[in-house]
Amino acid sequence: MGAGMQVRGRVLSVASECVPLVKTGGLADVVGALPAALGRMGWEMRVLMPAYRALRPRLSAMREVWTEDGLFGGTGTVFLGEVAGISVMLLDAPHLYDREGGPYAGPAGDWADNAERFAALSWVGARMAREGIEGWKADVLHAHDWQAGFAPAYLAYGGTGGVGSVITVHNIAFQGWADAGRIGALRLPREAFHPAALEYYGGLSSLKAGLVTADRITTVSPTYATELLRPEYGMGLQGVIAARGADVSGILNGVDTDVWSPEAEPVPYSVKSLKGKAANRAALCAEFGLDVPSGPLAIVVSRLTDQKGIDLLPAVVPDFVAAGGALLVLGSGDPALEGAMRGLESRFPRRVGVRIGYDEGLSHRMFAGADAVLVPSRFEPCGLTQMYGLRYGTVPVVAAVGGLADTVIHASPAALSAGVATGVQFHPTDAIAFGQALRQLCALHANPALWGVVQKNAMRHPVGWETSAAAYAALYDGLAR
Ligand code: ADP
Ligand code: GLC
Repeated sequence: MGAGMQVRGRVLSVASECVPLVKTGGLADVVGALPAALGRMGWEMRVLMPAYRALRPRLSAMREVWTEDGLFGGTGTVFLGEVAGISVMLLDAPHLYDREGGPYAGPAGDWADNAERFAALSWVGARMAREGIEGWKADVLHAHDWQAGFAPAYLAYGGTGGVGSVITVHNIAFQGWADAGRIGALRLPREAFHPAALEYYGGLSSLKAGLVTADRITTVSPTYATELLRPEYGMGLQGVIAARGADVSGILNGVDTDVWSPEAEPVPYSVKSLKGKAANRAALCAEFGLDVPSGPLAIVVSRLTDQKGIDLLPAVVPDFVAAGGALLVLGSGDPALEGAMRGLESRFPRRVGVRIGYDEGLSHRMFAGADAVLVPSRFEPCGLTQMYGLRYGTVPVVAAVGGLADTVIHASPAALSAGVATGVQFHPTDAIAFGQALRQLCALHANPALWGVVQKNAMRHPVGWETSAAAYAALYDGLAR
């Protein structure tokens, strides 16, 4: 927060991931960006997350602020410190978090005690919010996704201590399932085991628990907020969300415009002069050994999963290549999809490049050098890569769902003649519509005047946090008592 700025209130953000410490997806970017964005609005935010293996040494100015005995089989200690300007509190509970592997899974798959691991995070979050931490008293607890879903429930059932609560749904596909028999062990009241409260298809879901007990529900785009009311997107929780009526809202994510800036890339460029982009493109083609004389160079930077529509690429890429296009894929995930991507690369070695893995630096070079970014998701709560695309003049070609529908202005005849288009949208998410969108991409790209307008519109489209931070601040204002 800016020095001398009046504090409007304090928020304890409870999450399982936070950039720059741990990231498996956009959740981490958002959790890591909110403290600075909200700080500029006068809301002081601290992030509570698990101390996964080797995380503690990454905090500076660290000190112990909380001890919790009997925390699901061991002691929990909370350390407060700083990383990248964020006030982070790490819940150190070696019996739950000091393990080889990712936040949710080890070499043999998902950790069997994930319900307890994240119940512990939620339990400590609720207690710290309710009781205050060395005089730092939260006005609002902000829970993110299923991993923090029990936190509002612990407040609701154990006493709120005057703390308001918000849960944000970043992805409703992950619901935090636990068997009904664990209700007592998870420190939840048995009398709340009924459909209007904790019961979920005969068991428990930490996400549902959060959705029924938090004061407010948000999700990460306005369109996803309405999609969630429909069975095909709500994934079993549509009725729960519908029942919350006006307590539900959609607030679009932003991106960190300092980190994602074409002016900070190896060959800088800007909306005033896109010249540097050509040099980045040439370097990228050389890096992957591609030969793309005239058509558009498209990229995909994504988890390789069913959600992301990656399985459609083998059906559309041959025609795209025949039309002069080229594709670079960076991602990892489903082994079958990784194999399918490698298959495309060996079929079109000069037109398709694939890098399986996670590589932040390469993703920057790809956005700086490519002409277009493809996001053919089946559902997309918000999506960040289409916004990186906008910022970089790397024209987004997206399925018209969720946050993708809210952030890209489709190059319809009307939008083109009004001079406002920023990309291409298609619907439904299938190979026919996707193929048509790629043909439209090729046609736009072949018309330099039109292409230049779309690129510049994209780069001028605001993708920072200002508007959304103001919306969160207003939401918190309404909850602070
Ligand atoms: P999701 O959270 O559903 O995966 P988002 O678009 O919200 O989707 O966020 C994904 C984030 O992860 C973006 O910042 C994207 O650039 C990044 N990302 C995904 N895969 C990779 C990868 N293989 N290498 C580098 N960054 C990646
Ligand atoms: C989830 C969603 C993604 C969203 C991100 C951050 O991972 O899949 O669409 O951008 O959360 O909110």
